[in-house]
Amino acid sequence: MPEVRKPLISGNWKMNHNHLEAIQVVQKLSYRLKAGDTAAADVSVHPAFTALRSVQTVIDADELPILLGAQNCHWETSGAFTGEVSPTMLAKLGVRYVIVGHSERRQLMGEDDATVNRKARAVLAAAMTPIVCVGETLEEREADRTDEVVTRQLTGSLDGLKADQVGALVVAYEPVWAIGTGRNATPEDAQAVCATLRGLVAGRWGEQAGATVRIQYGGSVNPGNAADILAQRDIDGALVGGASLDPDQFAAVVASVPGRR
Ligand code: 13P
Repeated sequence: MPEVRKPLISGNWKMNHNHLEAIQVVQKLSYRLKAGDTAAADVSVHPAFTALRSVQTVIDADELPILLGAQNCHWETSGAFTGEVSPTMLAKLGVRYVIVGHSERRQLMGEDDATVNRKARAVLAAAMTPIVCVGETLEEREADRTDEVVTRQLTGSLDGLKADQVGALVVAYEPVWAIGTGRNATPEDAQAVCATLRGLVAGRWGEQAGATVRIQYGGSVNPGNAADILAQRDIDGALVGGASLDPDQFAAVVASVPGRR
C-alpha cells in the first residue's frame, strides 16, 4: 500500500507568548518558511487560548500557509464548566488541530486515558483533528515497560473510534523524560516506538488506518536533531516545544523534513 502521509510539524507554545508576541512570532515564521517547506509538510502553531483569535486573524488576513492549533479543550459543547473551552468554540476560530492528553496535562492536571478519549471524540465531532499524545516516564523506560505503557495509553485514548477516524488523526509519541530536558530519544529508539504504535493501529483498526495515521515524535526536537528523527520510516513529523517559540529555530525544524523541494 503506498504511503501518502504528509508530515506535520507542530509548534506547542505551551504557556508562552501573549497575544502580541504570538502575532510577531507567527508573522516572522511566515517570512522564514519557504514555499517548498509548506509543500512538503503541514505546519501548525498552538498558541495559548488568549492568543488564538489574534493568530487566526493574521493567518486569515495574510493567507499564511500555517494551520492553527490549540493545546487542549473540554469534551462538552457548552455548559457550566467554569474556565473551560469547548471544541466547537475552537472550531469556530478556525482551529484545525487540538492536542489532547499532553503528558503535562496527564501529570499536572490528572488527565487519564478515559478523559483523553472523551476529548479526542469531541474534537472529531467538531470536525477538527486531535493530536493524541502518549509517552512513558523515565522510570517506565528503565523498567523496560515502554511498549506496554504506550500501548495502554493509545488503546485507551482511541477506544471506540472508527477506523477512518483513527486513520485520519495524529498520534504524538513524546517520551516524558525527553520533554524540555534537552535529552531526546535516539532516532532509532523513537522509530521503534512509533513502529509499535503504527502496528497497534493496524492490528486494531486495520491496515488502512495503520498506513495513514500520522505519528509525530516530540521531546527536545531542535534544528540539530530534527533531520535524523524525521528521516525515520514511521515518524511523520514532530511536536516541538521550546524550539517552536523561536521562529528561526522552528522554521529550521520544518526545513529538516526530508523530500522538500
Ligand atoms: P520540548 O520540545 O520543549 O522538549 O517539548 C516537547 C513537547 O512537550 C511538545 O509538546
